[in-house]
Amino acid sequence: MNLILMGLPGAGKGTQAEKINEKYNIPHISTGDMFRLAIKEGTDLGKKAKEYMDQGELVPDEVTIGIVRERLSKDDCSNGFLLDGFPRTIAQAEALQNLLKDMNQTIDFVLHVDVPEEKLVERLTGRRICPTCGATYHVLYNPPAKEGICDKDGSQLIQRDDDKAETVKKRLAVNIEQTKPLLDFYQDKGYLVTLNGDQQIDQVFEDIQSKIEG
Ligand code: AP5
Ligand code: ZN
Repeated sequence: MNLILMGLPGAGKGTQAEKINEKYNIPHISTGDMFRLAIKEGTDLGKKAKEYMDQGELVPDEVTIGIVRERLSKDDCSNGFLLDGFPRTIAQAEALQNLLKDMNQTIDFVLHVDVPEEKLVERLTGRRICPTCGATYHVLYNPPAKEGICDKDGSQLIQRDDDKAETVKKRLAVNIEQTKPLLDFYQDKGYLVTLNGDQQIDQVFEDIQSKIEG
């Protein structure tokens, strides 16, 4: 099963991706996570991506398409994959169509997690992540059992650099502009499924399961 998760920053893509990955056992490919790992490792890719991410801007298409091409060519993608945060521009969507054609694959569903814009700032500024296992929490909506500590491995939770209030505003503006044409692109191809993301996390996941299991 080949899935794409779409949604504005904070809509819950990463949160749902964790659940989809656990249940259906398909690799979770998040361009944001790949860039954050490259930054942590101090690679050239990381240095380049950081310049854009810190400003809330998109990383240039050729860089982003390049890392996705490389990732999709790995063996574990031959039985399905879950793309999270890619594509984000029409150029990326077209590049993906070409990549999939070369792989003899198609998209099954584009899952659009839809959340009213006014809810997103609070979701992003209240988000905390685990630097060890990548788990995502929210100080109000999805708190760990012990404040500030990851349930899975006891690590101290941190805030993402781009979740500071100033960067959040810019990220939302940039993504709102890019999203509409992409939704139209996938609607025209018949892949688009829009989900109400303004519900409890488990309810959103229930809705995803019923859509993909038909
Ligand atoms: P990326 O890492 O993809 O960030 P994003 O799209 O901004 O999305 P987020 O990770 O912020 O949000 P999410 O939807 O995953 O929400 P989450 O589940 O965490 O990209 C970061 C940057 O990398 C970009 O700005 C760009 O610079 C670059 N980049 C990445 N991909 C790129 C591309 N293709 N092209 C160019 N540049 C690219 O949830 C958010 C919070 O809400 C959490 O605290 C969570 O616990 C909580 N929450 C989740 N669901 C619910 C719910 N149902 N109810 C209440 N709270 C909830
Ligand atoms: Zn953890």
